Parts: sequence; C-alpha cells; structure tokens
Amino acid sequence: MTARTINGLAVSKRLRGDYALKIKELEKQWGKRPGLAVILVGDDAASAVYVRNKERACESVGINSFHHALPSSITNAELLGLIVELNANPDVHGILVQLPLPPQIDVRAVLATISAEKDVDGFHLYNVGGLITGSTVFSPCTPFGVMKLLESENISVEGQNVVVVGASNIVGKPMALMLMQQEATVAVCHARTRDLAQFTILADILIVAAGVPNLILPQMVKRGAVVIDVGINRLPDGRIVGDVDFTGVVEKASFITPVPGGVGPMTVTMLLHNTIQAFERAQTLRQAPLAFSAFTTQN
Ligand code: GUN
Repeated sequence: MTARTINGLAVSKRLRGDYALKIKELEKQWGKRPGLAVILVGDDAASAVYVRNKERACESVGINSFHHALPSSITNAELLGLIVELNANPDVHGILVQLPLPPQIDVRAVLATISAEKDVDGFHLYNVGGLITGSTVFSPCTPFGVMKLLESENISVEGQNVVVVGASNIVGKPMALMLMQQEATVAVCHARTRDLAQFTILADILIVAAGVPNLILPQMVKRGAVVIDVGINRLPDGRIVGDVDFTGVVEKASFITPVPGGVGPMTVTMLLHNTIQAFERAQTLRQAPLAFSAFTTQN
C-alpha cells in the first residue's frame, strides 16, 4: 500500500482563496478590513521566519497586519502595556504574540492579558477552558489545521483510535481535546512514555508533534493508518523534515502528510480563519452590544 499524500498547501490555497473573497464582502459590508497585530520579541531567527510567513499570508487575503518588533530586553510591564493598548484599538481584531518569549517575560501574564475576543492563537485560558466544554471561541491554529486537513479528506475521527505523540500546550493537549470533542478514543504519549510503539501501533489515526526527526518508523505504524506529521525539524544539512520517516511510512499508511507542505501551511491558514472570525464578532458586538456577552460561544 502506498499512502495518499494529503496536500496541505493545496487545501490552504483553496481556503485562502475563499477567505480573500469573504474579506472583500466584509469590507463592502462594514467599510473596513480585519486587522491582526503581530508582536515579535527579540531576534530568534525561526520566530522571525514564522512571523514573516504569517504577515505575508495576511496581506495575501486582505487582512491588515500591524508589526510590532520589540527588543529582547523589553520588560514585562512594557509588553503588557502594548497588549493593553492593542486590546483597546478598534482596528486590531486579533493579537498574536510569537512564542517563545525571553526569560524575564511572564508568558502566562502575557497570554492572560490578551483580550479573549482578540485571542486568535487560542492560548487565553478562556479559550483553552472552552476546549474542555466544546465552547471555545478560537481554536489553537495547529490542531485546528489538523482537524481541517482530516475533514478535507473526509476522514472522520468518531470512534477511531487516535494516538497523539507530544503533549505540548500548543499542539498535543489541545489536539487531544478537539479529537475527544468529536468522539475519538484518544491516547496522548510524550517524552516519558515507555515503549512508544506499543501505543502507536494501535492507532487508526496517528498524530505526531514531538519535534524529533525520524521518531516514527514503519514498524510502529498499523497498516492502513492515517499519519499526520506536525513536526518541523531542521537537519544539520539544512533540510526540513518532520517527525515521521516519510519514505518508510508512506508504504504502510493509507494517508500521510508531508513536511514541508502538510500541516505547516494549515497553521497559518487557521490564523487567518480566526482573525476573520474575530473581526466578524467585533462588528456584530458593536452593532448589538446587549445581544451578546463578551464570551458568547460560536464556532
Ligand atoms: N510559536 C510556535 N508556534 C506558535 C503559534 O502557533 N503561535 C505563537 N504565537 N507562537 C508560536
């Protein structure tokens, strides 16, 4: 069996085309476009690349992006002050603070200060809590992108054994909750899991976000499984690879995502989705402030 490769670039391109049209309509309706503020602290090269990609994607669909580059020496109070300003700015509908942040910054305070209504990354505790009850306003972009990719191939997770490898706050944990919301049976493995293969071999759907090149070998994968590789690793020779031995596993799986060109572009696309949603919520709230509470759920 050779797996069908799920083309995240193509799915992203289609969705971004839809978003560009939608933004034109929204601009006609409301006389303004969605705006995303992106805060980059320090000079981490990888973060700078990610942020540039996000800003270019915004421009490509007609979202205004407001770039805030801050020195790594910035204080906690200064960063929180900027977020408070952006929370009050009516041209800014989404706020993204690129992680990781320098050690003097209190990441929890930063994420808690971003208004839940502008939290397009889905990292505010309100949105994180909503994942438990199925009432989150903004889903975190990477797991949301994985769900959209599965949907694009009509792969239902209901009743499936899904194994998530990696238990980060950004990917693994929210991924598990989103899968449970759709009635998957979910196991979450992590760096301390003993004998990873005894779990992965049971997976109908295997989602890997561990940040370890070649962690998943063909003998760890059930024949016919769907394999989603969230890893993005740069090898010493400069090549970008995921966490899955693609060449080996492609011969055993039924579906597989490549790296690059799989989940990566979907993460950025879901950021665009969330920013448009934040814009629409903001306009509706402005029109009928009494009809909506700040925490009305909608997805
Ligand atoms: N750093 C790595 N992934 C992400 C992400 O999805 N959002 C933000 N803000 N920072 C990140």
